[in-house]
Amino acid sequence: MDYGMKNRLSRIISPKDNKTVMLAIDHGYFMGPTGGLEEPDKTISPLIPFADSLMLTRGILRTKINPEFNIPIVLRVSGGTSILKEDLSDEDISVSMEDAVRLNVSAVALSIFIGSAHEKQSIINLSKLVDKGYKYGIPVLAVTAVGRDMNRDSRYLSLACRIAAETGANIVKTYYCDNFEEVIRTCPVPVVVAGGKKTTEQEALQLAYNAVNKGASGVDMGRNIFQSEKPLSMIKAVKSVVHDGLDPKNAFIEYSK
Ligand code: 5RP
Repeated sequence: MDYGMKNRLSRIISPKDNKTVMLAIDHGYFMGPTGGLEEPDKTISPLIPFADSLMLTRGILRTKINPEFNIPIVLRVSGGTSILKEDLSDEDISVSMEDAVRLNVSAVALSIFIGSAHEKQSIINLSKLVDKGYKYGIPVLAVTAVGRDMNRDSRYLSLACRIAAETGANIVKTYYCDNFEEVIRTCPVPVVVAGGKKTTEQEALQLAYNAVNKGASGVDMGRNIFQSEKPLSMIKAVKSVVHDGLDPKNAFIEYSK
């Protein structure tokens, strides 16, 4: 791995503790104005100092994020569908690597849809993105999107994560599940977990704690932070869990103060 790739990866996952709190706000690329992100700058700007990186689209990056913020960017570069469609798996690469370089991103992110109608297309897209990523020294994060008909269990998620890693992804983002240690054991690259739909703050902190304790490199969390009643307190609590190993009970006490 060359210097540029290693340097960018170290901006995403801190070499100090090999952990990361990524703040995901890319939901609009297929969901439009998602709750909490109607005016993303208003919700997100106060959170940026507490996130290790920001995952978002180039449209929101260019229009809403101050370029003087020194926050590593993970750029969503897959798209092509909307929530109005039954099948969300029909994605393509939607941003050129040259534009990602222009935006000075630390990584690019693309979804794969294992078991879906467009499984092959999404894996080949990942493969092409990885080739381009190595050309320019930009790591690729693969998101294992789970279709409505798929079970979010360790068998399915191990399959999806392993395929992502075998295709060349440098980081894999997936969901937490029972027997999560099996997903970690069989995936040769760092794994981060999404938060999923908004739950209670206690549940989200427990999820982050369980994931990290079973070997995840951290979280790439969105709705459970920006849809929280207190987004700033929530990101601080998540950070304490991921980076300081605070248990969820005490993290919730911190959140509630
Ligand atoms: C959408 C994504 C989101 O970034 C991901 O789902 C993380 O956000 P959340 O914690 O809200 O699930 O990749 O495809």
